[in-house]
Amino acid sequence: MKTLDSYDFSGKKALVRVDFNVPLNDKFEITDDTRIKATVPTIEKILNSGGACILMSHLGRPKDGPTEKYSLKHLVNPLSLVFGRTVKFADDAVGEQATKMAADLKSGEILLLENLRFHKEEEKGDKAFAEKLSKLGVVWVMDAFGTAHRAHASTAVIGQFFKDKVCGYVMQSELDNAQRLLENSERPFTAIMGGAKISDKILIIEKLIDKVDNLIIGGGMSYTFSKAKGGNIGKSLLEADKQDLTLELMEKAKAKGVNLVLPVDTVIADDFSNDAERKTVKAGQIPDDWQGLDIGPETRELFADIISKSKTVLWNGPMGVFEFPNFAKGTSAIAKAVVKATEENDAFSLIGGGDSASAVNNAGYGDRVSYVSTGGGALLEYMEGKTLPGVAALEA
Ligand code: 3PG
Ligand code: MG
Repeated sequence: MKTLDSYDFSGKKALVRVDFNVPLNDKFEITDDTRIKATVPTIEKILNSGGACILMSHLGRPKDGPTEKYSLKHLVNPLSLVFGRTVKFADDAVGEQATKMAADLKSGEILLLENLRFHKEEEKGDKAFAEKLSKLGVVWVMDAFGTAHRAHASTAVIGQFFKDKVCGYVMQSELDNAQRLLENSERPFTAIMGGAKISDKILIIEKLIDKVDNLIIGGGMSYTFSKAKGGNIGKSLLEADKQDLTLELMEKAKAKGVNLVLPVDTVIADDFSNDAERKTVKAGQIPDDWQGLDIGPETRELFADIISKSKTVLWNGPMGVFEFPNFAKGTSAIAKAVVKATEENDAFSLIGGGDSASAVNNAGYGDRVSYVSTGGGALLEYMEGKTLPGVAALEA
């Protein structure tokens, strides 16, 4: 794999696949720019060595071609600010305008292409589309770790059209950090898994049972565990068909000597809203019309205690509906405990992307943990041991 440091970009146009799939509010303002900031070293490296950058990305999941809501033009001004130079914009990723703008681009300049997914060929991994894109630059830099688990035209298929393929800094550090966690983890190793659905996390949980000392389960998925153990969960999230699986996971953990820890109390609500009436009950004792929306105070203490004594920490998924301030205490307690482990116990801590990364960044803790991943699904798949198409394309 070629690295950014070993490649001479001078006078060259680099076609850089980034993952600028960032959350936007209804005014099209970016609400978490972690993924953009992460690419700064890669882009500066190329520009400062005399190259030019043609940036390509997707945004969201547009279904019917060009859609205002998913236009990357909303990113042009914020990107110009972050990169400290004017970012040019082509309103179609391929075609005459993109070709001309790419051809005219001078060293030190940045061109952003419109959302790749406005062409259905992108997600289909269409070869002809990948080839068209490839004509825009002479070297392909793959830095979209968050999308490296997709075998799309720009993330994987395009590789075959380049002799020069370079792994970006985001990709490199994501892979290094995930490897460090899985291969050189100091003990005790604690994984905290949260989020709504157990079905998304089965494989990683199985994998982690072979690695960790403590496996903490919180968030929406914990109610399926609770129900399977015979608890009452009221109207809380349930994946009814996964109950047997949770019992198997608990058995497996036991057999391997892994301390699988579930919530002992729950903050419940009479409605799914921030202003719902709320109270705290013991886990598994949720009245019929109520639903669990956060871990309770005893659980916060229990989890925080285990986390802060750990030497390696992996966290993926919130402990509750942290978008509602009244149900965010569990998630922020975990964030604090991970910071404490990192700063006071010298732990290596990795925050898996998506919601937990946003929670950590929005709480201002991003710099106080070892690493915040820009990948959600990509990180999980990599840690499950799957080959990521975006990585394979660089290696081919
Ligand atoms: C993500 O945010 O998960 C990545 O950008 C990939 O997007 P996707 O899940 O829509 O393929
Ligand atoms: Mg995704």
